[in-house]
Amino acid sequence: MIFFWFLFILHLTISQDIIFPYIFSDCKHLILPVRCQCYHSGHESQLRCLKSELHSLPKLPNNMRWNALDFSYNYITSVDNYVFADIYVEQINLNSNYIRRIEITAFDQIKNLKQLLINNNQLKDLHHQTLISPGVSLQIFDVSYNQFQYLDIGQILLNLPVLKQFHLVSCHLNDTSINTLLKLIQNTTDEYNQTTVGRGHYYLEILDLSYNNLTTICDHLFDGLYNLIKLNLEHNSIRIIDNNFLRTFLQIKIINLAHNSLQHAPKLSSRSLEILNFSSNHIYYLNDYFASNLRAIRVIDFDYNHHLNNTSLRAFCFLNIFSLEKLIFRSNNLISLNTFNELLCRLMNTTTNKINIIDINNNINLKCDCTLIKFQKYLNNYNDLTCTQQGQDRYYISTLTNWFSNCSYDVCLYGQQTKLNFCNWADAERAIYEGTCEAKLKARDKRKKLKSQLTSTLTTLIDVQSLENTTESKNLTSIENSTVIQVEKNLISNSISMKINIYLILIILFIFF
Ligand SMILES: *[C@@H]1O[C@H](CO)[C@@H](O)[C@H](O)[C@H]1NC(C)=O
Ligand SMILES: *[C@@H]1O[C@H](CO)[C@@H](O)[C@H](O)[C@H]1NC(C)=O
Ligand SMILES: *[C@@H]1O[C@H](CO)[C@@H](O)[C@H](O)[C@H]1NC(C)=O
Ligand SMILES: *[C@@H]1O[C@H](CO)[C@@H](O)[C@H](O)[C@H]1NC(C)=O
Ligand SMILES: *[C@@H]1O[C@H](CO)[C@@H](O)[C@H](O)[C@H]1NC(C)=O
Ligand SMILES: *[C@@H]1O[C@H](CO)[C@@H](O)[C@H](O)[C@H]1NC(C)=O
Ligand SMILES: *[C@@H]1O[C@H](CO)[C@@H](O)[C@H](O)[C@H]1NC(C)=O
Ligand SMILES: *[C@@H]1O[C@H](CO)[C@@H](O)[C@H](O)[C@H]1NC(C)=O
Ligand SMILES: *[C@@H]1O[C@H](CO)[C@@H](O)[C@H](O)[C@H]1NC(C)=O
Ligand SMILES: *[C@@H]1O[C@H](CO)[C@@H](O)[C@H](O)[C@H]1NC(C)=O
Ligand SMILES: *[C@@H]1O[C@H](CO)[C@@H](O)[C@H](O)[C@H]1NC(C)=O
Ligand SMILES: *[C@@H]1O[C@H](CO)[C@@H](O)[C@H](O)[C@H]1NC(C)=O
Repeated sequence: MIFFWFLFILHLTISQDIIFPYIFSDCKHLILPVRCQCYHSGHESQLRCLKSELHSLPKLPNNMRWNALDFSYNYITSVDNYVFADIYVEQINLNSNYIRRIEITAFDQIKNLKQLLINNNQLKDLHHQTLISPGVSLQIFDVSYNQFQYLDIGQILLNLPVLKQFHLVSCHLNDTSINTLLKLIQNTTDEYNQTTVGRGHYYLEILDLSYNNLTTICDHLFDGLYNLIKLNLEHNSIRIIDNNFLRTFLQIKIINLAHNSLQHAPKLSSRSLEILNFSSNHIYYLNDYFASNLRAIRVIDFDYNHHLNNTSLRAFCFLNIFSLEKLIFRSNNLISLNTFNELLCRLMNTTTNKINIIDINNNINLKCDCTLIKFQKYLNNYNDLTCTQQGQDRYYISTLTNWFSNCSYDVCLYGQQTKLNFCNWADAERAIYEGTCEAKLKARDKRKKLKSQLTSTLTTLIDVQSLENTTESKNLTSIENSTVIQVEKNLISNSISMKINIYLILIILFIFF
């Protein structure tokens, strides 16, 4: 066998010089592990070694052209140096093995790799340099279901400049990992003191970070992913989101934030977003104008926000009813549709043929009132809809015809919602929202500013101490904060109390941070 192998290699080496390398694309000359199968069609082959009880990867002959190498469901524990060197292969599947280690040069000199699946393994780390070589062509990369805890996602993306899909489901990642995304937009200095200019990523379309431990989406983290289409963040612990976090995405269509810990729906802005999923969060109230800047929105899902019992009267102002297809409030705790009047009246007043748009099924405390009957054509699954009278029994609304017979009041004609300027853009732009990064950032900026002021004062004080003679002429008016100036003046006038003052400033520092 070894002899044949040798012959084969020899054959290969000899013919390499004569004929263009891809010639060995059929399965004929191969000596393969027992359960592996090789299929050949056209000018490409596939190697199927799935469930083949392999404990290591076989070294395949150089310069062979493969369409796919499937090593999934084996007992492979490592990917060794240069194991794929000089092989032309579009897809490698290492899914569901026991891989703990991938050598830094494991994929070096691999040719034409477009899809690499290493999901469901036991990796704890992955060096970004491993991906430099396949990076020239890699489009789909899946490392889901590995217990990384930390991945330099930013650097990995820099090394994979044409990547289209990155799957990182359930990798035990926390905010530290997504903070590395800033590398895409910030200039950095590497270990050789070379400045890398943040150049962003123009190819990534799908990023799946679901089932991780993320909590905060601030600091414009995702800004470098210019052409993202789908972002999946479901099943994390996200509490705070930047209102502007879609700002730089020009193509984004789907964002899934289901199963997180949001208490407020952020007021996102996007011209392209179509599906926004807030299902299973802790949102309890919808703020003014929250959807006013979603120009192409089709579906907003608030399912299973069990505490959502009310919305602002202006919550749906400027929600685009021409693109809207579904507004889902199933299994919330809505009491009444009265705060939806502005939206419902708009729907009624326009000639769009939109029906069944709003889903309020399974809101057990929904009160029987006239809005339900008046706007029934906009309610999804109307026949399954129940309401309660004085908190008592629940009735199918469709059976309560008598009770609703006196509903004639036209909310849309007389209600305040229809007043001119009830919704206005100036307010929509101004609105500030709790639970988003803005407030947090503002607080932090304020602290930072104060800190730099105090620090500069402190430096001045130290200067004062060493260059006592020049202090008299120092221009202190440039320091804004009067209390600090006060401290400083005291200091200059009374050098004995200097130490005490420094302690004072230290105490101030301590209090503020
Ligand atoms: C997320 O973090 C919590 C506490 O920090 C920890 O108990 C949990 O195991 C983590 N989950 C994952 C998937 O890493
Ligand atoms: C994230 O996890 C890593 C590794 O477990 C840990 O060192 C780091 O402190 C964590 N960062 C945050 C923000 O929790
Ligand atoms: C990064 O470097 C480029 C070129 O040197 C420069 O134009 C740009 O302003 C820098 N960006 C930041 C954020 O420093
Ligand atoms: C990089 O620059 C820093 C400070 O400018 C210097 O201390 C360090 O030695 C430099 N490193 C290399 C590898 O040149
Ligand atoms: C929102 O996410 C949840 C959980 O993944 C899913 O069940 C639901 O179908 C999604 N909603 C939409 C509109 O896609
Ligand atoms: C709505 O829920 C909040 C807490 O989530 C509660 O304080 C408020 O009283 C509820 N409103 C109604 C009308 O039930
Ligand atoms: C819901 O909120 C609106 C606006 O804040 C308020 O006017 C209304 O009374 C609330 N409804 C209930 C049932 O709490
Ligand atoms: C309609 O009239 C009935 C009987 O008079 C009354 O009980 C009910 O509260 C009225 N409904 C509304 C929505 O006012
Ligand atoms: C209803 O539509 C008419 C004309 O299309 C418009 O003049 C009017 O202001 C609209 N009313 C409301 C409440 O939007
Ligand atoms: C400050 O002035 C005193 C006397 O006027 C002089 O002895 C001392 O060297 C000066 N200190 C500095 C830092 O110039
Ligand atoms: C001190 O600062 C103030 C305000 O910045 C400036 O108007 C003034 O000319 C400065 N005086 C000197 C002596 O530099
Ligand atoms: C100095 O800081 C204090 C506390 O933040 C503030 O109340 C005061 O207005 C500041 N003074 C000036 C002149 O900025």
